[in-house]
Amino acid sequence: MPSSVETMMLFTVQGRARTRATIGAAVVAVAISTLLALPVAAMPGSTGARVRRTFTGRRQLVVGRRKMPLSKAAAKVLDGALREPDLQRRLVKALQALRAHDQHAFEHSRRVGAYARLLARALGYGAEAPMVGLAGALHDIGKLGVSQKLLSGKSDKLGKRQLREIRRHPGYGATLLSALGADLRSVRGALTHHERLDGAGYPLGLSGAGVPAVARILGVVDAFDAMTSQRSYNKPMSKAQAVARLRELSGTSLDARCVEAFIEVLDTSSGRAVFAASQRHPGGSEH
Ligand SMILES: [Fe+2]
Repeated sequence: MPSSVETMMLFTVQGRARTRATIGAAVVAVAISTLLALPVAAMPGSTGARVRRTFTGRRQLVVGRRKMPLSKAAAKVLDGALREPDLQRRLVKALQALRAHDQHAFEHSRRVGAYARLLARALGYGAEAPMVGLAGALHDIGKLGVSQKLLSGKSDKLGKRQLREIRRHPGYGATLLSALGADLRSVRGALTHHERLDGAGYPLGLSGAGVPAVARILGVVDAFDAMTSQRSYNKPMSKAQAVARLRELSGTSLDARCVEAFIEVLDTSSGRAVFAASQRHPGGSEH
């Protein structure tokens, strides 16, 4: 199947998510699991993705009919990423764009990547664990499309419209990663890392078996890092408090096996090193 068709399908499914109320959650769950089983574009050129400047001076990433707003700093770096022929360098540049856009989101992403790799290894992913780590590092790349002001705002003070804007980041991330030709697991991780077992997550409201394995892993490590390294406006939880919170959410919202394995990971020297880094560079957020 040509890669552009697969990418189109991704956009179709994301589009469907918006009309979930009319077509029903079950249909979306089936559509998304079908999509997630497909390979994804290998070259960025196949999607026709480009960074453009609108007549009002705003920057956008345009992928087919989808548009994602970009800050000036991010647009410049991302433009370079789209022209980069080497996949790995493209992804590194995308992360550099995130750093230029929001340093906190970048530091959080690095730690989520490190935690995700350790957790995947503990869960028996073996040689595939680094790819899960990559999905972790890229999970919030869609925050490139959310204004810096909004990202640094106090989440309990956000209005409905602002929350809706922030909650676009999984879709933006999947669109961007697909355009960059990232591996399917990373695209899936970006799209589904806020889905929850009890169906209370977003953007698709998947539940139970419909929540992909990578989303279960990222859900746990993302939540933990957000709790323990929140931005300066919120006092971060201690490690013990965050572990207790993960246990509360285990089995209902978060995958119980991932929670238990992660708590063990936190006790290893590698897990402790990532945690120590989080205390030096805060940066998570709960959305
Ligand atoms: Fe996120």
